[in-house]
Amino acid sequence: MVGINELTVNFGERYLFNKISFIINDSDRIGLVGKNGAGKSTLLKIIAGEEDSNGGNISFPAGYRVGYLPQDMDFVHGKTVMAEAKSVFKEVNEINDSIDEINHQLATREDYESDGYMELLNNLNDYNERLQLLGGFNVEANIEVILKGLGFLDRDFERLTDEFSGGWRMRIELAKILLSNADVLLLDEPTNHLDIESIQWLEDFLKVYNGGVVLVSHDKAFLDSVTNRTIEISLGKIYDYKTYYSKYLDQRQERRDQQLAAYNNQQKQIQDTEKFIERFRSKASKAVQVQSRIKQLNRLDRIEIEEEDNTSMQFSFQPAPRSGKVAVEAHDVGKAFGDNRVFSGVDFFIER
Ligand SMILES: Nc1ncnc2c1ncn2[C@@H]1O[C@H](COP(=O)(O)OP(=O)(O)OP(=O)(O)O)[C@@H](O)[C@H]1O
Ligand SMILES: [Mg+2]
Repeated sequence: MVGINELTVNFGERYLFNKISFIINDSDRIGLVGKNGAGKSTLLKIIAGEEDSNGGNISFPAGYRVGYLPQDMDFVHGKTVMAEAKSVFKEVNEINDSIDEINHQLATREDYESDGYMELLNNLNDYNERLQLLGGFNVEANIEVILKGLGFLDRDFERLTDEFSGGWRMRIELAKILLSNADVLLLDEPTNHLDIESIQWLEDFLKVYNGGVVLVSHDKAFLDSVTNRTIEISLGKIYDYKTYYSKYLDQRQERRDQQLAAYNNQQKQIQDTEKFIERFRSKASKAVQVQSRIKQLNRLDRIEIEEEDNTSMQFSFQPAPRSGKVAVEAHDVGKAFGDNRVFSGVDFFIER
């Protein structure tokens, strides 16, 4: 469980979040939605502890772990895919190193009766128990399942991550986060670099993930398949819907329609009352009624319509100057990385 408590972020006068609060439960599959620039990435960064807010706070139970996939990221060079994936299991790796060291000592020492030797055996036992608890004996098998689910082949495991395209490196990062066994996963546009099969695999993985999930995605089918709750960020506020994306769109429309209908009704009622007051204000015989209507107006709970974010981007493409008949002409084009021939013998024309 994560508590977001009265969180505020503002850049001068502009409020990205104005005292927003909600709770992320371990069973939640939240789609975080809103226009470009609404603050989705910023909210994830703040929950992940990578950025500060201007007010409010985020609370976690002790020992709670957050897995965060940023929208844009940097990469470390010079590691194989498998080594990079394994780097997630920091404690497991340290324990394995310690066990190797103890085994080496046990094999070379001959003071079997000494306290020191006894202590080595005890330590070995403790380390093995801890490893068992951490699932440290299945690390490679787990890594393989996840890497393969994301489209990697056996022969990719020992290749350097540097050799992979941006999209594939992003998959390695995603694999690390999925392996990290975090209590909550925060994924910012995870499907951007995935093909259909990997998206399908990720959907299935996230549906049964043992922890909370918060997703930002423009892929509606993906959101619909995974999420059971939708939080919309708009004009500094959040709107929390206990349903998946498409249903949220319907419910939001319904809510807006109802609000508008109720608002229009009330406006009509107010106008009628004001007209009545205006008309009979100076008539002594109607004084009681007029007074009562004035009171009625003052007591009225006025319906407000939620402000909608109608800002939009505008740009236009100028007509391009006319080109010659053939814009591009390619002859026998090829590209290779060492033995890996990506393509060759390509001929084509691109005509106007
Ligand atoms: N230091 C800053 N000063 C002023 N504005 C900032 C600063 N940092 C971020 N912003 C603004 O905060 C807003 C939220 O950005 P954010 O990246 O969180 O949006 P988003 O909802 O993730 O958008 P997208 O859908 O495009 O990924 C943007 O309008 C951005 O310009
Ligand atoms: Mg973003």
